[in-house]
Amino acid sequence: MISGETTLDVRRRLPGVPAHVGIIMDGNGRWAAMRGLPRIEGHRRGLEALRGTVRAAIDFGLDYLTVYSFSMENWNRPIEEVADLMGLLKRFIRNDLGELHKSGVKVKVIGGRTDLKPDIRALLDEAEDLTRSNTRLTLIVAFNYGSRQEIAAAARALAEEVAAGRLKPSEINETLLSQRLDTAGVPDPDLIIRTSGEKRLSNFLMWQAAYSEFVFLPMHWPDFDRHAFETALAEFSARERRFGRVTAQGQNGKTKKI
Ligand code: IPE
Ligand code: IPE
Ligand code: MG
Repeated sequence: MISGETTLDVRRRLPGVPAHVGIIMDGNGRWAAMRGLPRIEGHRRGLEALRGTVRAAIDFGLDYLTVYSFSMENWNRPIEEVADLMGLLKRFIRNDLGELHKSGVKVKVIGGRTDLKPDIRALLDEAEDLTRSNTRLTLIVAFNYGSRQEIAAAARALAEEVAAGRLKPSEINETLLSQRLDTAGVPDPDLIIRTSGEKRLSNFLMWQAAYSEFVFLPMHWPDFDRHAFETALAEFSARERRFGRVTAQGQNGKTKKI
């Protein structure tokens, strides 16, 4: 945001700001390695980048920001690194919850809770409870999250309802399945940004990303800043989303993209 600019000014400058952006915050380890630093230093700097990103998301007027901060597959990392990442999540909530709340941010956490330690579970519950009524921006933290596991759990929930006689198999449709995902009630992400140059989803929001636009940035996550965010939003607003339809010109009988 240029200094003195209001959210409305940004919206004018970047028409078509998406309601929901998902970010795969990747490249902390490589950022550190390039500087001869331990991986944890990359994760610490990544947390700084996240703070700035949340502030920018508020200024840009986004409704939802989902950040992928720990995947179910990340348990396969060395135990020291897993412990560091758990420690950073705790630090983020302890240090930032007050400010997030003051800024009107509603925190929601998606992913498995039962395999997290009780102190982390308590912090996540506290963050959600404190900020439940906020409306400025919903910050969805995907922690111990896996899209396949989320879809499997939704299928299990539907199967249990069928077994209990509350639902007929023929009634199962996309809406009912969506409503049993962790993201129930949240609109699908319009844009998914991944840093670090990797071009994959790594088990992030696979169901919800069916019609998302993707922007892959070569920079590592600790280097992601307001300017990079704006670049991604500008690229998004230049895209034409068709959702399976023909283009606007095609409908007018002029050009038709195939
Ligand atoms: C992203 O950075 C943070 C997490 C996955 C938790 P990485 O730690 O994956 O960094 P690279 O990909 O090894 O550089
Ligand atoms: C995805 O990054 C998970 C997060 C950013 C939290 P990874 O670094 O774990 O993904 P892969 O292993 O390169 O696919
Ligand atoms: Mg990575």
